[in-house]
Amino acid sequence: MKKTITMNLNGDLRSVEVEPGDILLDVLRTRLGIKSPKIGCEKGDCGACTILLNGKVVRSCLILAIEVDGQEVTTVEGIGRNGATRLQKAFVEQNSFQCGFCAPGVVLAATALLDKNPKPSESEVKEALAGNLCRCTGYGPIIDAVMSVAKEN
Ligand code: FES
Ligand code: FES
Repeated sequence: MKKTITMNLNGDLRSVEVEPGDILLDVLRTRLGIKSPKIGCEKGDCGACTILLNGKVVRSCLILAIEVDGQEVTTVEGIGRNGATRLQKAFVEQNSFQCGFCAPGVVLAATALLDKNPKPSESEVKEALAGNLCRCTGYGPIIDAVMSVAKEN
């Protein structure tokens, strides 16, 4: 049976009618026009579909849309809403990404880390990003960008 859910999506209240089994990743991409979470493994392993749910890193391929009724969902579209953040600029400066497929998930995971821990160690950065697979870069320029922001904090 369909149900209308309402979430705070990147600062806007958005309502959408969903079936009980609809996956949040699909609803975001196909019904709400949010394309930054990517369809990767669809089983929780790659991090391409990462979003923030009430500020916490989660995999949107593993969550039912119905579960976020009344919750706060943030994607990269929301993070960059008022212009690129310091972290996003650092990723550009360090040429952190190549194909960019992993980038939205990495940006969100690193943003959540720096919000919670503004001065993480390199090992804490690696741990926070361990669930976000990148097939292009070897992670070096990604870690360097996050560390450059951490050092300024
Ligand atoms: S698509 Fe969700 S973790 Fe890979
Ligand atoms: S830049 Fe291609 S997967 Fe990370």
